[in-house]
Amino acid sequence: MPEYRWGILLAPQEENRVIPFGEHYGDPAWQEVPGEHRAMLRRLIVIQGDTEPASVEQQRHLGKTAPSLYDLRNLFQVNVEEGRHLWAMVYLLQKYFGRDGREEADELLRRRSGDADSPRMLGAFNEKTPDWLSFFMFTYFTDRDGKMQLHSLAQSGFDPLSRTCRFMLTEEAHHMFVGETGISRVVQRTCEAMKDAGISDPSGIAKVRALGVIDLPTIQKKLNLHYSLSLDLFGSEVSTNAANAFNAGVKGRYRETQIDDDHRLQNSTYPVLKLVNGEIKRVDEPALTALNMRLRDDYTQDCAKGLLRWNKIISLAGYDFKLALPNVAFHREIGEFKDVHATPDGMLIDDATWNKREGEWLPSVDDGDFISSLMTPVTEIGSYATWISPPKVGIDNKPGDFEYVKIET
Ligand SMILES: [Fe+2]
Ligand SMILES: [Fe+2]
Repeated sequence: MPEYRWGILLAPQEENRVIPFGEHYGDPAWQEVPGEHRAMLRRLIVIQGDTEPASVEQQRHLGKTAPSLYDLRNLFQVNVEEGRHLWAMVYLLQKYFGRDGREEADELLRRRSGDADSPRMLGAFNEKTPDWLSFFMFTYFTDRDGKMQLHSLAQSGFDPLSRTCRFMLTEEAHHMFVGETGISRVVQRTCEAMKDAGISDPSGIAKVRALGVIDLPTIQKKLNLHYSLSLDLFGSEVSTNAANAFNAGVKGRYRETQIDDDHRLQNSTYPVLKLVNGEIKRVDEPALTALNMRLRDDYTQDCAKGLLRWNKIISLAGYDFKLALPNVAFHREIGEFKDVHATPDGMLIDDATWNKREGEWLPSVDDGDFISSLMTPVTEIGSYATWISPPKVGIDNKPGDFEYVKIET
């Protein structure tokens, strides 16, 4: 990608920027690391930095099975930009944190996604991205967690962090676009193929798969998996770390400056989903400790938009089937619901029921094998794999037969 510049990219410095929340509310933003918040800032930068190359490690093998040159080009762009996001975080560590910053930067380069000895720091970034449907789900759901985290860090009183995050957000938007349109194109192709074959029941999995497309129930299972893994990235619903980072002026809320309140949150509450006597209920908690919950709620709202688009494609094709986000208690490893099992509808169930029915809700080995069987590369200019529709428009309005990637033989 010759047009891509390698380097450190920052949004322009805003003149007279002030800290928009916490106990330093209204003070001038810091151009150097404030000593009292140094450890906390370093930890947040390292966690953010760790996710960036992890996704490249998870996704790069997909270049071998791209369903078109257009998709291959998008994969390259996502991967190059994530690499550059890592570099932005490494820059902050090197420039502002002295020797321990340099050591942390080295560790970022040493860890590897899924590695038994030195894995990446967060669960979703050690999972496999085995096929292109997973890639689209990942860029839709997991990159969107990235968007929420970057938005919160873009509010930071530490101005160099704010500026790098503001720049990264512009690129994150494209990653989510790749995910949203990717899933749209898969759904579109499945609906078209079912219609052409005269199939009226989208749940008749074997008949749909025989057409060489991915059936809607399996798309729902993949969605359940990636959404629940991404929810875990928000951490515990109630968290003193989150409260401390907010108080310190280090990490704010999504769209902090547009929220109409005192931006200190000393006396307010926020409703948190909790398990109360075996039921899922909203309970008021101090707003400061509930910041992870709030960010996760913002995330869930943001996720819902894509589902409206995908469901419109399905209903326009005349099918009575709706993709849905599973309940937040479904398939969780972190937070309030990690020790219980719940159905995608949010009904609590015992271990035996979960073990018996898990395969109805999450992709099974068979589902994975079927999707893998479709993952054969398509490298002819302007051609697409059987299981995905062409995009509505090319990158930068390029024509359908544009040679996005030149493959040397
Ligand atoms: Fe990123
Ligand atoms: Fe991204």
